[in-house]
Amino acid sequence: LSCGVVIVAAGRGERAGSHAEGPKQYRRIGGTPVISHTLDLFVNWQPAKHIVVVIHPDDAALFEMARAAASPAGSRLSVVQGGATRQQSVLAGLDVLADHAVSHVLIQDAVRPFVEPAILDRTLTAFSHGARAVLPAVAVADTLKRADANGNVAETVSRSGLFAAQTPQSFHFETILEAHRRAAASGRTDFTDDASIAEWAGVRVHLVEGSAGNVKLTLQKDIAMADQRLSHALP
Ligand code: C5P
Repeated sequence: LSCGVVIVAAGRGERAGSHAEGPKQYRRIGGTPVISHTLDLFVNWQPAKHIVVVIHPDDAALFEMARAAASPAGSRLSVVQGGATRQQSVLAGLDVLADHAVSHVLIQDAVRPFVEPAILDRTLTAFSHGARAVLPAVAVADTLKRADANGNVAETVSRSGLFAAQTPQSFHFETILEAHRRAAASGRTDFTDDASIAEWAGVRVHLVEGSAGNVKLTLQKDIAMADQRLSHALP
């Protein structure tokens, strides 16, 4: 089993608002860019044979700064330009990884800097049991409501069996590469995660336990909370 990693970081992060430090993946939390935390985790993860970071063409200088703040990855790291949607950015990363002879790939959002090694361990265990697609997820805790167009409750949705999907989403490499290429060839560009591409391609996706701490930094308040969490953890 040899693992590649794709870290997607080519989004513009518009929901977090604009900021002098750049898109949200380059904002500093605990003094260090978000993406440096994410990258560091995978650079120091023993099974990672090669890591591809997918960036926006405007962010090359920002990324070089962020890379310098993470552990050195040397020739284990490639950087490639992303596309207009997350799906297109992931495929750009997979295409690069195709030259690195990996058997499996972990696909990670740059904006999830708090992945725990336990999630990676569960993923490897699922692979060793033959899973071709592995998704960390947490059971939905809140009661769910569907709203109507007027902002009133239309109905209560049962949360039984519902999970919130996290990353890294991990796959047998050839399986997800082929599914992604087929999805692109069919004209679809709007899949918001990779597990849904595997589902679309008829691949069974195995759920493993995610963690409440593995949050996705989407809004300004998420970044502020992450910054506080790290700043308080410092001596
Ligand atoms: O937009 P969303 O929050 O779903 O983005 C999730 C991740 O995908 C982020 O790390 C973002 O940088 C990345 N992304 C990308 N290329 C895009 C859009 C999003 O790499 N075109």
